[in-house]
Amino acid sequence: MVAGTAGAHQPRGAVALRAGRIAWVGPESELPSDYRAWPRHDLEGRLLTPAFLDCHTHIVHGGHRAREFEMRLEGASYEEIARAGGGIVSTVAATRAADEAALIAQALPRLDALLAEGVSCVEVKSGYGLDIDTELRMLRVARRLGTLRPVRICTSFLGAHAVPAGAMADDYIDTVCIPALRAAHAEGLVDAVDGFCEGIAFDTRQIARVFDVACELGLPVKLHAEQLSHIGGTALAARYGALSVDHVEYASEADAKLLAASGSVAVLLPGAFYAIRETQLPPVAAFRAHGVPMALATDCNPGSSPLTSLLLAMNMGCTLFRLTPEEALRGVTAHAARALGLRDTGIIAPGMRADLSVWNVETPAELAYRFGFNPLHQRIFGGVTCN
Ligand code: NIG
Ligand code: FE
Repeated sequence: MVAGTAGAHQPRGAVALRAGRIAWVGPESELPSDYRAWPRHDLEGRLLTPAFLDCHTHIVHGGHRAREFEMRLEGASYEEIARAGGGIVSTVAATRAADEAALIAQALPRLDALLAEGVSCVEVKSGYGLDIDTELRMLRVARRLGTLRPVRICTSFLGAHAVPAGAMADDYIDTVCIPALRAAHAEGLVDAVDGFCEGIAFDTRQIARVFDVACELGLPVKLHAEQLSHIGGTALAARYGALSVDHVEYASEADAKLLAASGSVAVLLPGAFYAIRETQLPPVAAFRAHGVPMALATDCNPGSSPLTSLLLAMNMGCTLFRLTPEEALRGVTAHAARALGLRDTGIIAPGMRADLSVWNVETPAELAYRFGFNPLHQRIFGGVTCN
């Protein structure tokens, strides 16, 4: 199949797809003669991008937290709600109560909303079980989603997300988190290991104990770090060669240097910044200056970021964090792929998977500048048109 395409003021481009991969890409005028006789799919000048990747989500969870939204409107902070027994641990109760079918039924509309906006790869975290059974059930559901829709799912084990009510953090790490990680890995359910390094969650020493097990199992790590305060999660993650550090509003210039050296991606999550009315901006200028790749994701979760639009995350990344539209586009494609450790997607180049999105726009900036509008024309997943 050959897809002819171009931006308004660009020469028409062409992409040749074979067996689910990109075989050739370049100006249509230079299309090698071998490909000229192939069946052709004319995109009539629409913009073609790599398919989007949402590299940080919690779409598998039970229930919702609309009441906490009201509490925040009445003046409570995200941290106060968490310390009072709300927040993550309240979603834990709803998730433990939901069986596999219920979790799938609740996650599918969120997944469908993402796919409808050109997403073809979604990272899904556990972390609302905080017991062995439920952590594994969440990850099984995540894997299952990848069989129910044309999408690639990457799983992250997030047992170190919160300390369950009544437990001690160190004891929880020893008796639940690490055994759950080993069990989930044995079942092939874990692509990466994540944690929440924060005053209301786990300190660097506790996260390091989980990361040591990840290393022993040969699994890459990533970390929710420096979201609400600066406690050293970014430096820790960099020491472990993390794929990504996520949130990072409170990261410093020194952290940016460490990330540049470790090759980790800074995943910016403007939906959470917006929803909890954070005022500390992530150090975008330092990330730029030191060459730290920046990704953008929805962080779709029932508390701090009930967002199921990666296009809106792009707009917020530009409007709130002052990313350029081009940085936003890289943030949901090439850099998002890198944040997941994927080398076969995120750019349009020979040998890459034929995961592509076709847009009813003329320029990349149009993807980030509108909000509440979906210009997707078509999604191509593994070379197959999905709609
Ligand atoms: O990425 N920061 C920690 N974890 C989630 C919040 C989860 C929740 O509030 O339920 C996040 O923002
Ligand atoms: Fe998160």
